[in-house]
Amino acid sequence: MGNSLKITVPKIRGMKPEGEAITVLTAYDYQTARILDDCGVEVLLVGDSLGNVVYGFDSTLPVTMEMMIAHTGAVVRGRKNALVVSDMPFMSYQTSVSDAIANAGRLVKEAGAEAVKLEGGLKSADRIRAIVDADIPVMGHIGLRPQAVNMMGGYKVQGKLESERLSLIEDARAVEHAGAFALVLEAVPASVAGEIRDLLSIPVIGIGAGPHCDGQVLVVNDMLGLSEFKPKFVRHFAELSGSIKEAVSEYIGEVKSGKFPADSESFT
Ligand code: KIV
Repeated sequence: MGNSLKITVPKIRGMKPEGEAITVLTAYDYQTARILDDCGVEVLLVGDSLGNVVYGFDSTLPVTMEMMIAHTGAVVRGRKNALVVSDMPFMSYQTSVSDAIANAGRLVKEAGAEAVKLEGGLKSADRIRAIVDADIPVMGHIGLRPQAVNMMGGYKVQGKLESERLSLIEDARAVEHAGAFALVLEAVPASVAGEIRDLLSIPVIGIGAGPHCDGQVLVVNDMLGLSEFKPKFVRHFAELSGSIKEAVSEYIGEVKSGKFPADSESFT
């Protein structure tokens, strides 16, 4: 018997017409994936944001295929029901259509990803089409594209100017036309996100894109209050950094004072 709770690409697509909001969180390791999956998050995104939050780089540009494969495998082993989407890192698809297919294939074959995500609208459309033709579902990503940080001159809200709004719409249409099953829209004005949501039949997942989207995604370390990063669009649903510091300070105190371990925590 199959697992009827398993989230699949067709289920994600079907949530838009049903008007059911789609929840997406990033995950980079086995234990976090287990917890998020138990909570019922529909999509676990192994984002290349792991370059920032796991490896401490100041951008996503140094992230490699090997890192993405290792972390995607860990997340896949931790989840039961959620759909696992793995990010294609910088230079794994920009170089050619055949590299794009081969590297998307590695994330599926070597790590168990069920879909891949890549950045770019019109100019990535041929990559998206080719990967989808290889039967690998693709999630698009437009608006603020962290892999294009050097072209954009920083991490800035996109789509404020009329010309930017029009090119975002063109990009969104190109991603849908190329066969993507969903689209991440990052750091765009809420009104532009709403317009794109209404124009597309595929779900639009927002991050810093306001409430008029079909779903929301956040970096898990940010929403749990683990990172120092707190841009306007992030809400801290917990303050885990403070809780960890409290626990570790207590541990240090108990070890130093000889209170840990107690007899009950020792073998006789
Ligand atoms: O890498 C990532 O985590 C992402 C999300 C922020 C959408 O692309």
